Amino acid sequence: MKNGLRETLADVSIPLVKIPAHPVRLELPESEKKALRERVKSMLQEKNAVLVAHYYTDGELQDLAEETGGCVADSLEMARFGTEHPAQTLVVAGVRFMGETSKILNNEKRVLMPDLAATCSLDENCPIDLFAEYCDRHPDHTVVVYANTSAEVKARADWVVTSGIALPVIKHLAERGEKILWGPDRHLGRYVQRLTGVEMILWPGSCIVHEEFKADALARLRELHPQAAVLVHPESPQDVVDQADVVGSTTALIQAVQQLPNKEFIVATDAGIFNKMKQLAPDKILLGAPIGGEGATCESCARCPWMEMNTLAKLAQALETGAGEILVAPELATRARIPIQRMLDFAKTLKK
Ligand code: 13P
Ligand code: SF4
Repeated sequence: MKNGLRETLADVSIPLVKIPAHPVRLELPESEKKALRERVKSMLQEKNAVLVAHYYTDGELQDLAEETGGCVADSLEMARFGTEHPAQTLVVAGVRFMGETSKILNNEKRVLMPDLAATCSLDENCPIDLFAEYCDRHPDHTVVVYANTSAEVKARADWVVTSGIALPVIKHLAERGEKILWGPDRHLGRYVQRLTGVEMILWPGSCIVHEEFKADALARLRELHPQAAVLVHPESPQDVVDQADVVGSTTALIQAVQQLPNKEFIVATDAGIFNKMKQLAPDKILLGAPIGGEGATCESCARCPWMEMNTLAKLAQALETGAGEILVAPELATRARIPIQRMLDFAKTLKK
């Protein structure tokens, strides 16, 4: 037990993640962009496909998803939408774990992604061999993993959760008196541990984007904007979460901008989210939480370099050539589906 809290960091050394450079953005002339958009629209129809995009992808892809009857959502809703939509091909604009989750839940459908190299630092922080070996050493713990993991890690877990549902799931397990082995995001794990008091071992992974938000600089920005509400994604460090008025999934943060009476908001999550926030609350003032301040490394500009790999041109190419298809071995998909389905079934009971 640490500082009176029942949380322990797993004693493993996780692999270093190679962070790609932000892609150089060649701004296409409007006429070319329009032509690409039209090509994507007609191919979606022709190929019985639907576009499912995450809030962190380029605004252009988000808008196109909605215009064509697809969806823009957090990772929980992306998974759900794919299962309920009749299209035979799901085109997932996001990072690889999102495409894999769609494939696991829809083995009979084709799942395409604009760029298969779009990974996530949390997924990379949690290789299956290391994780499985650690789980084997703690057989009395319920294994709960964040959706930001590989199909193999999901298959080893008892539960999969997204940030939108982590708290109620852990509360539910706490009520059953279970001890939790949580992976891979230690910040989200610690956040739910503090709210539930449950005994948890935390895998030491983190998100390279959210980890860059700096508490000291945030405190200074709050002084300059005392009326602003602070919205924080729970992948952020503890001292940033501690300053939040609202902590939640991307969907929860968007809803907060719409629903809170504040005029100004300081937002600690990937800047891609501003597209939807501005659309739904055009009269609100949105400020990005600082990534500078003491200890800043300037590795991040609050943009996930892997989410940025999703472009209109790559989307068109994936649809045209079938490149970027996600494949998950059926036997692995069957095992990984169990803890994901458990989460989706649990989500239904919450709605009721
Ligand atoms: P959400 O589930 O809140 O959309 O988060 C996914 C993610 O990767 C955040 O960095
Ligand atoms: Fe992963 Fe962080 Fe990118 Fe989300 S923002 S996909 S957690 S690296």
